[in-house]
Amino acid sequence: MNHFQLKNNELFCEEISIKNLAEKWGTPLYIYSHSTLCHHFRTFDSAFQGYPHLICFSVKANSNLAILRTFIKEGGGGDVVSGGEVFRCLKAGIDPKKIVYSGVGKTKPEIDFALKTGILMFNIESTQELNLINQQAKSLNTKAPVSFRINPDIDPKTHPYISTGLKKNKFGIDISQALNKYKLAQSLKNIEIVGISCHIGSQITETAPFVESLRKVKGLIKRLKEEAVIIRFLDIGGGLGITYDKETPPHPSEYAQAILREIRDEDITLVLEPGRVIVGNAGILVAKVLYTKSSSEKNFIIVDAGMNDLIRPSLYDAYQEVIPVKISSAKKYRADIVGPICESGDFLARDRLLPEPQNGDLLSVMSAGAYGFVMSSNYNSRPRPAEVLVAGKRSYLIRQRESYKKLIRGEKIPGFLMPE
Ligand code: LLP
Repeated sequence: MNHFQLKNNELFCEEISIKNLAEKWGTPLYIYSHSTLCHHFRTFDSAFQGYPHLICFSVKANSNLAILRTFIKEGGGGDVVSGGEVFRCLKAGIDPKKIVYSGVGKTKPEIDFALKTGILMFNIESTQELNLINQQAKSLNTKAPVSFRINPDIDPKTHPYISTGLKKNKFGIDISQALNKYKLAQSLKNIEIVGISCHIGSQITETAPFVESLRKVKGLIKRLKEEAVIIRFLDIGGGLGITYDKETPPHPSEYAQAILREIRDEDITLVLEPGRVIVGNAGILVAKVLYTKSSSEKNFIIVDAGMNDLIRPSLYDAYQEVIPVKISSAKKYRADIVGPICESGDFLARDRLLPEPQNGDLLSVMSAGAYGFVMSSNYNSRPRPAEVLVAGKRSYLIRQRESYKKLIRGEKIPGFLMPE
């Protein structure tokens, strides 16, 4: 359920027409619905009601401070993968004890920052990382709370670029080596083992891969107990998919039931790292039609948003639904919807049937709330779009559109290149 609805053939976000928002804030424009964000968070959270759990929103999916703040106010924590994401979480007012830190390439300064912040746990991905964290904790005269990220070798049946739990992927520690790694961690003075973690991929549309990996991890927890290694937190990552097109992912309650069935008897706190399922359908990207043109083979609708604003279609060949903000013509038009970037891979959608657009019409790219703005860039020196949060009848600018001046911030021409 989301709060982007057509009313008399015109798209609204909550109680405001998208057309009004585009006029007020310009295009391309990311728009998020506050009610949808809260609704998705609460639906996910309440699905685990009755079992000790912590929802650590996956910050990489959408890291805008206002979005993070929304979830923090709902009691959420953060799943982070960089020092920058720790910084953002703190700026948004998070309780550091609700931060879990994953990622294969944590640097020394990032580790120090997280240690000083006092996070809930590091999800460790290699022995070398474990040793470095131990060393840094020692130098800061503290103990680092850790879990190992286990690679359970499960096929999540999703796009290969976003599958993470297979042996051939760079993520986690081979489950067959995990016991030894835990024993090693036990012997390190500045390490405190608190948990175990696992994340098998993203946009997963069935419960079976989650259950399968959980069973493997459960087996490991049992073995660890025999070795007197006590696991307090079981972090099962994120990955639950959403409907972009015709996918039928399980509802969060179905997902939760499948998980809870497996761990009902464990004395453990569950940590979850959902990203897409919370924010994906809570955001759209609005673009303006600049031109239409036809070759002998195809029609093109050229809009003012490109792959630098939303890269998912180009990068993963991902489907994003595109609908007119206002239906102005009964005549249909089949076309590729493309951006202004100088690359043939710059498209938002291909071969779509839409009402024939006029120049200046607005199109909405749906389900753009996750991995949308966060993956945007300045390629072709295009300022990144503005982001707006809608709550009821009001809209709030939560990120200014970039200016040309911002485009060159930090750049310098060395003196020897300057005119004499
Ligand atoms: N936890 C970890 C350790 C992760 O690596 C990820 C996502 C998540 C949680 C959140 O997963 P979610 O619930 O959002 O599926 N850019 C790609 C998705 C990359 C996902 C990376 N990791 C896309 O646009 O589809």
